[in-house]
Formats: sequence, C-alpha cells, structure tokens
Amino acid sequence: MFLTGEEERILEGEEGETRMKMMEILVALGKVFGAERMVPVRSVQVSGASYKTIGEYGLSWLRSLDSTVAVPTMLNPVGMDRSRWREMGIDPGFAAKQEEVIEAYRRLGVRLECTCTPYYLHLIHYGDHLAWSESSAVAYANSVVGARTNREGGPSALAAAIVGRTPEYGLHLVAVRAPQLAIRVETDGHELETAHYGALGYRVGSIAGNRIPIFSGIRPTRDQLKTLGAAMAASGAVALFHVEGITPEARIFTYDTRSLETIPVVWEEITDVFQDAPVDAVALGCPHCSEQELSRIASLLEGKTVRIPLYVFAARGVMEKQKPLVAAIEKSGARVFADTCMVVSPAMERFGTIMVNSGKAFSYVPNMCGAAVRLGTTEECIRVATGAP
Ligand code: F3S
Repeated sequence: MFLTGEEERILEGEEGETRMKMMEILVALGKVFGAERMVPVRSVQVSGASYKTIGEYGLSWLRSLDSTVAVPTMLNPVGMDRSRWREMGIDPGFAAKQEEVIEAYRRLGVRLECTCTPYYLHLIHYGDHLAWSESSAVAYANSVVGARTNREGGPSALAAAIVGRTPEYGLHLVAVRAPQLAIRVETDGHELETAHYGALGYRVGSIAGNRIPIFSGIRPTRDQLKTLGAAMAASGAVALFHVEGITPEARIFTYDTRSLETIPVVWEEITDVFQDAPVDAVALGCPHCSEQELSRIASLLEGKTVRIPLYVFAARGVMEKQKPLVAAIEKSGARVFADTCMVVSPAMERFGTIMVNSGKAFSYVPNMCGAAVRLGTTEECIRVATGAP
C-alpha cells in the first residue's frame, strides 16, 4: 500500500502515539481490503456514542486517546437528551456515565451534534470521500447524495477523523458502486407511504445482505429514501442502493440490469409486516426527523391529546430551526427529544410494546429495548397515541 511521506511519518510515531496507533488501524484495514492508497476525507461521523452500547470498555478506550480530530467530525446519538434526560426517566448513574463519554469526545474535538442525520446540518456533496459509521447515515450519504463512504466501525471512523484519511477501497471506488441485484417493486397501483418504504427496506435488506440493490417501480421522496436505506442497513448490511431515475448515480450512469438476479416484491409482501397489537408507547424519528417530518407530525397532532407516551426524535440543530413545530407537537403532550433515539436510549426499555413508523426501529427495538414492536404508518401511530378511532 502506497503511503505519502506525511503518512509514513505518522506511522513512525513522529506525530504522537495516538496518531500512530490510528494510522496503524487504517493501514491494517487497507491491507486487508487491498487498498492501494489513502484518500483524504471531508468529514467523519462516529458511532459508539451511547453508554448503553459502548459501556465501560469503550469509555476507557476513548479516554486513552490523546489527540484531536483533523477534519469535521460529528457524533451519533447518545443515550439521552442531554438537557431533558430527567424527563425521559433516565437513571442519574447512567446520565453521569453518558456525560463522561460525551466529555471524552469533546476532548477529541468531535462536534456534539449527536445525530444520525448529520446531513441536515452539514452539507455533503456528490463524490465527497467520507468516513461515516452509523448505518442509515452511510446509506443516505452514498445513495441519496452520491458521496462515498464505507460503513465504518466506531474505531476506524475515529481513526479516520484523527488522521484525516481513510484507505481507498470498497465504496470509495466508482467501479465497486454498480448494482448487484435488481428489485422490481409491484405496488399494484397503491401509493407507498414512508412507513411502507421502511417495510420494503426491511424485506429487501434480509434478501440483499451486503449487496447493492437497484430498485424499479417506485418514486420515493428524500425522506422515503432515508427510511428505505435505514431499514435495509438494519435487516441486512446494505450501505448503498440505487433507484432508477431517482438516485444520483442511477441518473448519471447507465446500468444494464438485465444480467442481474431480479427479485419482484409485491404489495402484500410490503403490507404483511403491519400487524395490529395493543401498544404502550409510540416512537417516531428513526432516522431522526427532517423538518418536513416534524411538520407532518405537528399537523396530524393538531387539536389532539396523547393518551400514551409519544416520543419524537430529531437532531437538536433541526429542532432549533423549527421551534414552533416542536411546540405544536409538545402541545399534545408528546415529547420531542434531541441527541438520542428509541433504540440507543435505555428510556424505552420500560415499555412492553412500542409502535414505530420505521423499518429500522422495527428491526432493532426487540433486541435493543427488550420490547415487542409494531409497525404502522405515521398517521396510524398518531391515531394509536391519541386514542382516536
Ligand atoms: Fe438513528 Fe437511532 Fe434509528 S441512531 S437510525 S434513530 S436507531
């Protein structure tokens, strides 16, 4: 693997032990995956931010790092809303540990935005090389924007942040980004709501594994693409997908899909994931809500009062721009929390059944929260939360 003079110096320890160790991680990864060189990255997104997921071992590893990041680096959701954790019912002992994790990241120079939708706060562009780690953010950056990132682990993302580079392999190479599987969606004239895209992603992720699918027969909006990618990254390991005529690379390149394995997905296969069941709480915002999604939730809640807990999750930066929408949602008794989500926070573990409108949350809630899960459209979720007929 070719290294520049500067990269060699980092590897030899001339810029400190932490940078040397981080470069060792990147070089080892590059060798395993056959990278020929490093590429500079425009930004990094680091997962492994909730004390619930990284625990004491992760915290002590973070504390051992003595350096600062070289490129803009954003943090994934943590285990609580940093200012309203008491309202979430978070244990003070957990909150103290979570603050220690956040402090460790702050010391490294990581931006404490605590979101899986950093693309709402920092512009990324077609062709940018990134080193992002949260799986839905990776799928969005690659597929919806046309940026280039592998699905990094927490340590390799942090290594890329501290060194400012990542080994050039996998989805950093244009030749590797072509579709490998064709998904023909047959909606039978039905219009797909956002939650249907979550259900579709949930189905296709388990079929695709880590292959790159290309969809035909659908015309998703940006929010729907976000939901579709998040679900495929959760039930499978899809880090990039294309939609004919919609996503940037499917519009720029002419992909010949005739030789690909083609899998039809019919309307009934999408809708049979939606089951009826009594629920104890409703959680929306996986991935974190966009301004449009907050607006829709606010309008569905207008004049209503919630009868069971309804939690909405969004990036703090998005909430601050949309204070009237947040106030309108909270007027119903629902709560809009920043910095965290229904999966990485321990707050949801007290509920028996949680209703969600997200294919990714549908995948993760049972294992991560120890709760049963029900999938519904946003409208159905609001209807259940408010006890409306
Ligand atoms: Fe984001 Fe949490 Fe879902 S990190 S994608 S809201 S599981």
